[in-house]
Amino acid sequence: MRVAALLLAAGRGERLALDVPKAFVLLAGRPLLAHSLEALLACDAIERVVPVVPSAWCSGLAARLGPLARHAKLAPPVAGGATRQDSLAAGLSALPRDFALVAVHDAARPFVRAEAIARVIAAARAHGAALLAAKVSDTIKRVRGGVVVETPPRDECHAAQTPQVFRADWLREGLDKAVAEGRAATDCSQLVEALGVRVHVVAGDPDNRKITDAADLAWAERRLATGGGA
Ligand code: C5P
Repeated sequence: MRVAALLLAAGRGERLALDVPKAFVLLAGRPLLAHSLEALLACDAIERVVPVVPSAWCSGLAARLGPLARHAKLAPPVAGGATRQDSLAAGLSALPRDFALVAVHDAARPFVRAEAIARVIAAARAHGAALLAAKVSDTIKRVRGGVVVETPPRDECHAAQTPQVFRADWLREGLDKAVAEGRAATDCSQLVEALGVRVHVVAGDPDNRKITDAADLAWAERRLATGGGA
């Protein structure tokens, strides 16, 4: 089963309020997306990595990636869309049909480890659908209109991470179904869950955290400065 990865990096990152898209913000002197790109390229199971970036940033990507830009597995960038789901669709349509499994990773998670990527790919090879997720320590409330409507049992609650890895045909079908039904998913797993597919959960690392705001970025800089590595 050939495996390709899509690196979703086309978000504007409005909560960071900077003049560059979030994936191009420098973290320890390298664009945010370069950190997870390196981990994806280092994963032996992955044959190709397709970066999905804002259209205006496609032509300048190679210059920003340094030596990573010459990696044999790196495909030319694809222009993303207005939403994460649109960017996923753009990336998927650029993938040749002979990739049976697709790993989708958010560039906003720079600290994913190659070892965790390999584990979630192995689970998807076995089951067709798998994601990294971390158990939550807080009690989770579903809130509507400022009022608690449900408290799911804490030991069943997990925070979804990426990569999420799926049979490419299931991911394409799930995406088509969501578009036809006018649903927008915040992660890929929801797309295949809606097909009735059982998505297997692989224990994620708490450090595989999403960089959303300035405090997250400051945490990431501190982590790298104290030798945490990327
Ligand atoms: O906005 P959010 O934090 O959910 O974005 C998750 C990931 O999806 C980020 O890596 C972001 O760059 C990507 N994204 C994208 N295209 C968009 C919006 C988000 O590729 N239009």
